[in-house]
Parts: sequence; structure tokens; C-alpha cells
Amino acid sequence: MAAKKEQIMLGIETSCDDTAVGIVTSDKRILANPVYNQFKEHEIYGGVVPEIAARSHVEHLDNLIKAALKEAGLALRDIDAIAATAGPGLIGGLMVGVVSAKTLALALGKPFLAINHLEGHALSPRLVSDIEFPYLLLLISGGHCQLLSVEGVEKYTRLGTTIDDAVGEAFDKGAKLLGLGVPGGPKLEKTARSGNPERYSLPRPLVGKPGCDFSFSGLKTALVRTVDKFVRSGAKPTNEQISNLAASYQAAIADCLVDRTANAMKMYRIKHGRDLHFVIAGGVAANALIRSNMEALCELEGFSYFAPPLWLCTDNGAMIAWAGLEHLAKGHTDTFDFPARARWPLDQQSAPKIGHGKRGVKV
Ligand code: KG4
Ligand code: ZN
Repeated sequence: MAAKKEQIMLGIETSCDDTAVGIVTSDKRILANPVYNQFKEHEIYGGVVPEIAARSHVEHLDNLIKAALKEAGLALRDIDAIAATAGPGLIGGLMVGVVSAKTLALALGKPFLAINHLEGHALSPRLVSDIEFPYLLLLISGGHCQLLSVEGVEKYTRLGTTIDDAVGEAFDKGAKLLGLGVPGGPKLEKTARSGNPERYSLPRPLVGKPGCDFSFSGLKTALVRTVDKFVRSGAKPTNEQISNLAASYQAAIADCLVDRTANAMKMYRIKHGRDLHFVIAGGVAANALIRSNMEALCELEGFSYFAPPLWLCTDNGAMIAWAGLEHLAKGHTDTFDFPARARWPLDQQSAPKIGHGKRGVKV
């Protein structure tokens, strides 16, 4: 019998401010994974401007696809299927990626796969490791903060989510408040390195409470108040004080994540017994303090620990291509009328959270 042909997937990611293309094979070879960051285009506005993001995706996606193919040493006809993030995210950007993927798939006569961005993060550890289902996932990014039981492709149970801000948003807003620039998370982490995490006493919302939902808006407000004290006194905080504020804020975020994850581990253990695996994913999973605290928690709670490499934590096309391959292996493909969706919960069964996002439920 002829060996089953290896599949080559091209994945497109345009859900926020990164334009990304990945080319990945079904035997887990990453042939190309270029990312174009739009940080500079949004910096002067202090946050991602959806219209600018969408236009930037239009300007950069074609060249990024060409660059990815060149790096992989492939022509378009060598690609077996095209996957694109179809949600959740900023609708303008999502439409750019989805329409481009559909057009390529139609022109090449190849399957199209619409991928949930959260699923891209959730399955990404399997691209670089042999981890099997099920596992407990802490998904922490700029738009999301969830604890999920990952039981298989398209089989997710949400154990907890944020009732207000996503954790990456908390990092980004904190960094902005401290005048650290963008990208907020990495800048705040760097500034915190030389700071004293115990210097300022900041709240740890929901810590010690049952369940495993998250809340970060009270912590952010506490930082606003602390910074305001400096402003009112007329004194500009020194670099040392900024570092101490960053370290104290980061420590509070990490404590919240550990407490809620510990509760999720207890809930997960009841259902899954002894073979316990924990995975951390999403952009904030690049944070060294959070990684080491989670590793320590796993040791304490008897879970194996896996954190993807940093380049796979932040948004990229390879994770979308890989999620596409996982779906393709199950015989799934999508039709060309599949719409881009600004909101698309991974666990359709769980009731939506009533949060405080400006536009209603955030994550
Ligand atoms: O997963 P991602 O690239 O995009 C979304 O799906 O949102 O995550 C981006 C988020 C941003 O909020 C960024 O500030 C945060 O991840 N981030 C970090 C670090 N690196 C990225 N937060 C804390 N520490 C980091 N080292
Ligand atoms: Zn993401």
C-alpha cells in the first residue's frame, strides 16, 4: 500500500494586529512562519485601531504569503489546503484573512478551513510536542483569559474565563499607564525585572474565592490610583519607582493566575483522575514569571507542565496551519459561505459570561 501523502497546510492569521502566515506539514515540520507586527502603526494611538489594522493586513498579507512560500521552497500548487482564522477578533482584519484564504482555495481547487483563533492557541502545543488529549489549558492573551479542558479537536469545556479584562489587556493598559510603550506585556516584564514586587500593595481580585473565573479591572484601577498619587503630589515617579510599580503589578497578575488555575486543577482532577497534564498558551504565556509560577504549581498539584516556545505563544500563522491540519486529519473542511465572526466562543455549551466589556461579553 502506498504511504499516505504528507499534507501541507498554509495558515493565515489576521485577527488582531499581527499579519502572519505559516506553512506546516502534517508531520509537524514548520516550513515557514513569518509574522509582520503592526506595533509601530498603532503606537501613536496608544492601542490597536481596528481600521488601521485591517488596512495593514490588506497591504502586507500578499507579500507575506509570497515570502512564506519562498522560505518554504514551495509554489502555491504544492499547498494541499488553506486555513484562516475566522474569529474571534477584529472583524475587518478577520475578513481580510478569510477572503484571501477562500480566494486561494477556490483558485487552486483546494480545501478551505475556518479556524477559531482560540483553538489555534489551544492546539499549538501539539505542533511541537507529543502531548495527547486531554489536557488542562490556561489560555492567556491580549483578548482572552480562559481555563479550558481540551478533550479533543473541537471538544473543549470552559472551566473559567474573565469577567472583565483579558490578562494581556491588563498588561497592556498597565504598561501604558506607566509610560512604557508598546508592546505593553514584554515592556512591562522587562521593566519589572529590576523592581521590588512587594513595594506596592495591589489587590488580587477573586483570589481565595471559589471557582476559576478571573477579574483584572480592579487591579488596573488600583494601579491608576497609585500612579495618580504621584501626579497629584507633582512628583514624577523615578525609574526605580516605575520598576517597583511594574514588578508589583506583574506579581499581582501572576498571583491571580496561580490561584484561579489551582482551583481549575482541582475541578479537572475530579473528572480526569490521575493522568494530569497542564499547558499554558497565548501571548502572555511568554512571561517568565508566569511560566515559572505555573511550573511550580504543576509540581505542587501533580500535573505535568508544558509551555510552548515563545514564538509559538504570541500570534502566528503556524498555529493556525496546525489547527487546520488537525481538522483535516478528521476529515473536516469548511464551505465558502463560512463567515468571519467577531465573537466565536470555543466552548459553545458554556453559558456566556455577563462581563463588563464595552461591547458586552468579551471572552
Ligand atoms: O496571543 P497574542 O499574541 O494575541 C492575542 O491573541 O491577543 O497575545 C498578545 C498579548 C498582548 O497583550 C501582549 O502584551 C501580551 O500578549 N504579551 C505579554 C508578553 N508577551 C506578550 N504579556 C506579558 N509578558 C510578556 N512577556
Ligand atoms: Zn492570540
